[in-house]
Parts: sequence; C-alpha cells; structure tokens
Amino acid sequence: MPSLFVVFLTATAPVSPNSPFWGARKDYLERSSTLESQRHQSPHAAQLGAGRLLATGRDEDTWDPQSSMELGGIMPATAATPPVFVHPQGLCESDAVGSGTRVWAFAHILAGAIVGEHCNICDGAYVEGGAVVGDRVTVKNQVMIFEGVTIEDDVFLGPGVVFTNDLRPRAHIKRSGNALATTTVRKGATLGAGVIVVCGTTIGANAFIGAGTVVTQNVPAHAFVFGNPSRQIGWACTCAGRLSEDLRCPECGRTFAQTDGEFGPSVIEESSATIRGPDV
Ligand SMILES: CC(C)(COP(=O)(O)OP(=O)(O)OC[C@H]1O[C@@H](n2cnc3c(N)ncnc32)[C@H](O)[C@@H]1OP(=O)(O)O)[C@@H](O)C(=O)NCCC(=O)NCCS
Ligand SMILES: [Zn+2]
Repeated sequence: MPSLFVVFLTATAPVSPNSPFWGARKDYLERSSTLESQRHQSPHAAQLGAGRLLATGRDEDTWDPQSSMELGGIMPATAATPPVFVHPQGLCESDAVGSGTRVWAFAHILAGAIVGEHCNICDGAYVEGGAVVGDRVTVKNQVMIFEGVTIEDDVFLGPGVVFTNDLRPRAHIKRSGNALATTTVRKGATLGAGVIVVCGTTIGANAFIGAGTVVTQNVPAHAFVFGNPSRQIGWACTCAGRLSEDLRCPECGRTFAQTDGEFGPSVIEESSATIRGPDV
C-alpha cells in the first residue's frame, strides 16, 4: 500500500475571519439572502489555500487533516477548525467556502459561489458564481454546477453530473440572474455518474437518481429514478437501498408509509422514525 505523506507548507492569507461563512454552519436562508451581494462582490481572488499538499497515494474521499497529522504531516495551529484546503493546482476564487472543505486539482470555484463545510470538491469540478452548495456535499470529478443551482447538505454528486440553467439557450442571447431557471437538490439526495439535470427542477430529499439519467421533471423525496427521460421506478431508502412493495428496506429494515407531499400523494415518509420525506 502506498504510504500517505502529507505536508502543509506556508499558510498564506486565509479566508477573512469577517466572512459570515467562516467557522460556523449557516443555513440556506442565510446563504440565499447573501447570494446577491456575493454576486456583486469584488472579483479579487481569495487566497484560500492553507498550504500546499504533497501527497503520494492520497485519496480524495478519505483524506482528512487529522489523520494526515498523525501520519507525520504538519497541521496549521487551528486544527480544531480545519482550514479550507486547496490543492496547488486547484483554483478557488470564492471567499465563501466553509471550513474543512477540500478543493482538488483542476477544480474551479468561482467568486460568488457559496460552498459549505466539509465538502469534497474533486478534480475537474466547476462551481460557478451564484451556485450554492451545502455542507458535507461530495462533488465528484468533472461535475458542473452553474449559477442558479442550489445543492443542500449531504448530497452526493457522482462523476460527470451536469446541471443546466438556461432552458432554451442561444449563443447570441446572454441570460443571467433572474432570467435563469433555478434548480434545487434537496438534502441527502444522490445523483449517479453522468446525470444531466434539466433546469427548473427540484430533486427531493434522499432521492436516488441512477447513472446516466436525464432529469426532466421534479423528483419526489425518496424517489428511485433512472432513464432518459427520467422515470420513477420505485422508492429509495435513506441508506440507498431500494424499497420493496410494502415500502420496507431490505438493506436496513427501515419502513416507510405513503403520504402527501409537495409533488402530490406519491411521496413517502419514514414511518418508524421522524424523518419527513416530503419536506423538499
Ligand atoms: C440505479 C442503480 C442503483 C440500480 O442498481 P440495481 O438496483 O442493482 O439495479 P439492477 O442492476 O438490478 O437493474 C435493474 C434494471 O434496471 C436497469 N437499470 C439499472 N440502472 C439503470 C440506469 N442507471 N439507467 C437505466 N436503467 C438502469 C437494468 O438494466 C435492469 O433492467 P432489466 O430489469 O430490464 O434488466 C444503479 O444501476 C446505478 O445507476 N447506480 C449509480 C452508480 C453510480 O453512478 N455511482 C457513482 C459513484 S462511482
Ligand atoms: Zn435502508
């Protein structure tokens, strides 16, 4: 097994401590209310990199500052609130990125993008100004998140997921701001590799979207969806297991019940616990 050897070099100009996003978890309302001002912020690139990473055999999914310290790396003094980590070949121009988030090689976060804490922004991902990403979100390689897209906490975006924000684009018509269609991915949802999300849609909490799906319509909470165009073929458990007809998860045993929700009666909620699926 290759040994993991991580060294932090100089800590250069960290995120401003005055940033309302630094240190504490912020809810989506706060993110949204500040979004407009973020968009018009000075385009100065924030020097977010806490240092440079020299790593052999590093794993973007499992790397964490604490274990790297134990393995001989040098942590900055603020180990209790881990810094934003930007790979030397990563580019982070936003000063609204939460602590513990890692930005890997060739990923690009633009000024005006809002990214929460403990996210993993993998190689080649793109997060545009005006996009909002919650906490603990996994953004795998080559994911494209554009202005008007909101990703809530604990969402998994598989490799090559592509969002859109202009339903009928033309090269000679430039749309921005309110002229763009918004898209929301609710808490805990999973989008498999290569999913394309047509704008103006909402993907419900804990929904599971299979690889290669083209999402063309709203997806209820906990829906299990795949295909082009997207079709709901069942229900997904919180653990990503596919529910049986009696709405029981064969993987973890959770049970669910049919209820009303934002998109009509075909929504489920966990009947054995307090999680409410339709709160999308
Ligand atoms: C959706 C998914 C979870 C289904 O897995 P599964 O429950 O094991 O389903 P099966 O493989 O038994 O397939 C059941 C049927 O659905 C079809 N199917 C499965 N996944 C599909 C997909 N993504 N799109 C279209 N059809 C799909 C299968 O062809 C099969 O059809 P058949 O009954 O006519 O033969 C899985 O295929 C998937 O897409 N996972 C996401 C993987 C991913 O993107 N990971 C990203 C991190 S690497
Ligand atoms: Zn389950």
